[in-house]
Order: sequence, then structure tokens, then C-alpha cells
Amino acid sequence: KADLIHVFKGIPFTTRSSPELLKSLDNFDAREDDVLLVSYPKSGTHWLAGVITKLYNTQVTLTSPLEFGDISKLEELNKISSKRIIPTHLDYNMLPSNFMNKKCKMIYIIRNPKDTAVSMYHYYRDNPNLPTVDTWTAFFDLFLKGDVVCGSWFDHLLSWEEHKNDKNILFLFYEDMKKDLPKTVKDISVFLDLNIGDHEIQDICKKSSFSEMKRNTEKENSNPNHTVCALTSNRKLIFRKGTVGDWKNHFTPKQNVRFEEIFNEKMKLSKMAKGHFGRPR
Ligand code: A3P
Repeated sequence: KADLIHVFKGIPFTTRSSPELLKSLDNFDAREDDVLLVSYPKSGTHWLAGVITKLYNTQVTLTSPLEFGDISKLEELNKISSKRIIPTHLDYNMLPSNFMNKKCKMIYIIRNPKDTAVSMYHYYRDNPNLPTVDTWTAFFDLFLKGDVVCGSWFDHLLSWEEHKNDKNILFLFYEDMKKDLPKTVKDISVFLDLNIGDHEIQDICKKSSFSEMKRNTEKENSNPNHTVCALTSNRKLIFRKGTVGDWKNHFTPKQNVRFEEIFNEKMKLSKMAKGHFGRPR
């Protein structure tokens, strides 16, 4: 299944992101009112997408990821007449420069990399569009090397964190959403200049719970082209456990030590990563 992956500018992509599309991304016509939903895979992208779309009373279109599809993608996005919410897993430096020039709003969601790794492992196992991994041990090594789809978790966050003071970028944490979703929803609504009452916030939170989202997805006919994650083949695979700390059920003590060594080395200049995940949780 090696032909499921190709490498573009040093980063592994699935073949569902065509090289022609990736090469032409910089021609993309961003609009001032586009909202980008940015994540490393398995960080809570679907959850956040659910929340954001529910915040709008006006017509908005949640598109498939910017980097997902073939060369016709740019035209397809151009045709959308309503406001666009565009997911992407791209590193900051691969993003079409138009998004920066137009100061589009971007929301970046971060999750504890240990839980992200575990989530991605299960995803690799269940998803026929991704390479085969035999064991957790094998996947653990690939993840630390950045030899997985979308590349290194560490480099991804570092590329975005460089822009943490940009007013048009909001950084959110999966763990904060688990702890206090209403607060995160409020923060998002303020960032997006939306006027939302407490009652509505409560309602959005209820509809965005893990069990609600899972239940709704199981009822749907899944369309593999309607996805917010460029790795997805089947939306039903997304709602696995939805908890904080599942890494403890997978990491051996030795793996934990090794992970922390690499984390500390790679993230020594990252205030964000160290502040949130620097101490074991
Ligand atoms: P797990 O595999 O740990 O369960 P993404 O959407 O970026 O692909 O991330 C998927 C992860 O987010 C999965 O993690 C999934 O269960 C979790 N998730 C999805 N919806 C959620 C929700 N409403 N609440 C909490 N976690 C959710």
C-alpha cells in the first residue's frame, strides 16, 4: 500500500491530495471573510467544525480540506457563494499567501501529542486509505520521526506558533474544550464577532457532545468526499473514544520517557507546548 502516500515539500500526503493541487495552492483566491480551521490530524477537527458551523445563523459552507482533491478543487471552492469555513492540515508555511494578505481568521486546535498519536494509530489501523501499521510500537516510532501523513506534530505546531501574536489567529486546546466547552464556544464567538447568548451556547454544547455527534454520524450516509480531514474515508471512524489521557493505556513507561525527551528537545522554544503539556497530565 506504499502508493497511498506521496511526499510534497518534505511532507507525506495521501494520494487523495493530488500533487497538482498542492503545486497550485498558492494561486488560491482567499476571501476576506473565509475562516480557516487548522489542525494536525486527530486533534479534534470534526468537533471544532461542528461547533463553528452551529455558531452561524447565516448560510455558511463547511468545505472539504483545502489540500484534499485534485486540480479542480480551486475552482470548486471558487464557486461557493456563501461564506466558507475551510479546514486544513497544512503547515503554516504551505498555506496560500492570500490567506495572510487578506488577514483571514484562522482557528488552530491543539491536542496533547500523546493522545493525538494514540488516536492516529487507531485511525491508521481502521482506515483503508492509510498505510498498514502492525503494532503500536511501530506506529510510535513513525509518529516521533514525523513519518506519518501531514508530517511531524512538533514541526506543525512550531510553524503555527511562530504566529501566535497575530490577531487573526486563535489557538485552542482540545483539553480546554473537554474541561469547559461553553467557555471555548464563547471565545470562538467573540473571535468571530458573533453575538451569541448563553442559552444558545448551552444548546450548541449539548449538540456537540461526543455522544450526540457520534449518534448523528451513525445515522448519516457517509460520503467520503464530504470530509473535514484529508485522511478521512469514513466519518464513522472519527468518533472513537473522545477522552483525555488515553495515551496512558498505550504508552509503556519507556516510551513515555523517550517521548518526553524528544518533546523537550523539539519544543524547547515552544512556550505553548511546554505550558500545556510540559508536565505529565
Ligand atoms: P480519539 O481517537 O482519541 O477518540 P479529528 O476530528 O481531528 O480527526 O480528531 C478525532 C478525535 O477527536 C478522536 O479522538 C475523536 O473521538 C475526538 N472527538 C470527535 N468529536 C468529539 C467530541 N464531540 N468530543 C470529544 N472528542 C471528540
